Amino acid sequence: MTIGILKEIMKGEARVASTPETVKKFIADGMTVLVEKGAGDKAFFCDDEYVAAGAKIVDDVEEIIAQADMIFKVKEPLFNEKIGKHEADMFRKGQYLITFLHPASPVNHEMVKKLADNGVISLTLDGIPRISRAQNMDALTSMSTCAGYKGMLSAANDLAIFMPQMFTAVGMQKPAQVMVIGIGVAGLQALATAKRLGAVTHALDIRPAAIEQGQSLGAKSIDPGVPAELAVGKGGYAQTLPEEWLVKERAIIAEKIKDMDIVYLSALIPGKVAPILVTEDMVKSMKKGSVIIDISIDQGGNCELTPPGRKELVHGVIIDGTKNIPGTIPTASTQMFSENLYNLIKYMVTDGNVNLDVNDDIISAILVTNNNEIVHAGTREAMGI
Ligand code: NAI
Repeated sequence: MTIGILKEIMKGEARVASTPETVKKFIADGMTVLVEKGAGDKAFFCDDEYVAAGAKIVDDVEEIIAQADMIFKVKEPLFNEKIGKHEADMFRKGQYLITFLHPASPVNHEMVKKLADNGVISLTLDGIPRISRAQNMDALTSMSTCAGYKGMLSAANDLAIFMPQMFTAVGMQKPAQVMVIGIGVAGLQALATAKRLGAVTHALDIRPAAIEQGQSLGAKSIDPGVPAELAVGKGGYAQTLPEEWLVKERAIIAEKIKDMDIVYLSALIPGKVAPILVTEDMVKSMKKGSVIIDISIDQGGNCELTPPGRKELVHGVIIDGTKNIPGTIPTASTQMFSENLYNLIKYMVTDGNVNLDVNDDIISAILVTNNNEIVHAGTREAMGI
């Protein structure tokens, strides 16, 4: 079995799908690994380290694709400007592609159709179910951990005041007040990071379990009081609130937000557009120089003013809609992604043979195209198939 690891071509993407460490493990498992020249440079993994791990460095991406049985990437296939071809058109029938495909997102529908037409067997890492036996393959959780930590650091960096309380010769500087809305994987990490920096933290979620977890990290809880049967759905995930409860929740946020220095937004119902929880009027009511970081921006954002992919000063508040936060901590995010991918391959491949069990709940959740068809339920629904 030959694995091909491609250099990411999305602008600003610093991650790579495998570290030299995991390449070494693939080779110990009997696989051949081809790495595109310079693929790990931006994540600080150099070609020499891949060679020392047993990989072969190849300059020509088309040569790697021609030889590999499985292609590993971080981001979805895109048009490769350098060679004038779309990556999805470069893969062949029966070849495996494993990456974050985000296949339900409308911008990716054409690309997914190409993969199906070309007979590529594509698997998307953003589909890994959050079940205990898939935990070590869950790359989305890894990336949310990165976004929780680095997103909070970035907000603290933009803040016009100190995070901790400071006793100085000219008096006391009050600690920053930080509110995190949406206490899932990213939110919990954001709360923990803000606490370590010395801020006073406040946690708001609609799920009682999430509020408890926030409290256990020393946050003051803000409970909008949504009945558990409305807030929690299948598998313990949050579900979309009826509008009347969203109105109540926004009223609670409007009351609190005036006193906050950082508002970290990470509220999401899986597979849905992010709920709007922070309105323009709320932003206007905030202290000048405070910061909103809205990491749910890929799903539309939790604040109605968040600029997608950018930072802007609006009504005296810095609003940060940076999209690829894990890419700003590229060594750690690559290490985590690469271990998740390795665990998935270990799960799927035995003695060099892929066992594509379409009835397995992990495989069926991540398989997007197979036998020239789009088979992924969420994608089919989004494409109206
Ligand atoms: P998660 O599913 O673990 O957490 C979402 C939380 O939001 C849950 O605790 C849920 O109960 C809560 N929630 C849902 N509706 C709510 C409401 N109306 N009010 C308050 N809380 C509500 O998700 P995870 O993994 O923490 O990701 C959070 C967001 O971060 C997602 O939108 C994800 O796409 C994004 N993300 C962004 C990155 C970036 O670079 N910008 C990187 C990684 C993740």
